[in-house]
Amino acid sequence: MPMDARNHHLKEDIREYWSKRSETFDLAFGHRIQPGPELDAWTAAIRGALGEAPRRVLELACGTGEVTNVLLSLGHDVIALDFSEAMLKVAREKHAGNERVRFILADAERTMEPDESYDAIVCRHLVWTLTEPEQALADWFRVLRPGGRLLVFDGNWARPTPIGRLALLAVSAVERFVGHDPHYDGAMSERHQAIMGRLPFGEGLTAERLVPLVEAAGFGDIRLMSHRPIAAAQRRTADLRNRLRTLLYRRFILAASRPSATGGRA
Ligand SMILES: C[S@@+](CC[C@H](N)C(=O)[O-])C[C@H]1O[C@@H](n2cnc3c(N)ncnc32)[C@H](O)[C@@H]1O
Repeated sequence: MPMDARNHHLKEDIREYWSKRSETFDLAFGHRIQPGPELDAWTAAIRGALGEAPRRVLELACGTGEVTNVLLSLGHDVIALDFSEAMLKVAREKHAGNERVRFILADAERTMEPDESYDAIVCRHLVWTLTEPEQALADWFRVLRPGGRLLVFDGNWARPTPIGRLALLAVSAVERFVGHDPHYDGAMSERHQAIMGRLPFGEGLTAERLVPLVEAAGFGDIRLMSHRPIAAAQRRTADLRNRLRTLLYRRFILAASRPSATGGRA
């Protein structure tokens, strides 16, 4: 089967998977950004990467609009896209009446947005599920203006870290007393596993794997930032089971720039 056709089926499966999860997505730990220390930590991370000035931001795979909320609170104008109409419905309801955000149904790998039209592109938990990462990065480079910034939040969801494996055992022990959490990720579910197995990053997305692809797409000024302050903030309000979950997977934050005409970051 040609590559395009294979990706079409895979994308349909991915879209269906997320659409099914849209109604309860915010109930699963790590998705909803809780007001308080967690929101502050996300805000600090985004402000640190994008700066203080209001920008025109393209948010990719916005899901239920949680990162959208952080971007709006920082004063940015946001175009937020997702390819799941069900996800967009939740996001649109959450941000109803806010004129600084527009939600669009689009494929993050081929946005169809005009060349050089954004100051920044932001995505959380999208890159691991891309079917054509090189194509996507080329598209993102194209729509960013010279000097524009790419900001990626992601992690290696394919396998827990060594500490994560211990944390997973502890989560199972806790669940023997409190019962199974029906909303948690399904990261281990059969459906999720079946999709993972067909993805380019199915073996796990790491910063080490992503950096060369970002470089090859033409980006410069590539910086890796720690996700630890966010996880630490989550632990301040989470219950025991969710505190343990912050230890499961290695996450990273990657920022990069489309070089400006003068070579630097604008
Ligand atoms: C793990 S969820 C993350 C949602 C949101 N970014 C967040 O962090 O709360 C993955 C999202 O990516 C979307 N998605 C996956 N592949 C996509 C693509 N090629 N184009 C647009 N959206 C995509 C799904 O519909 C889903 O909403």
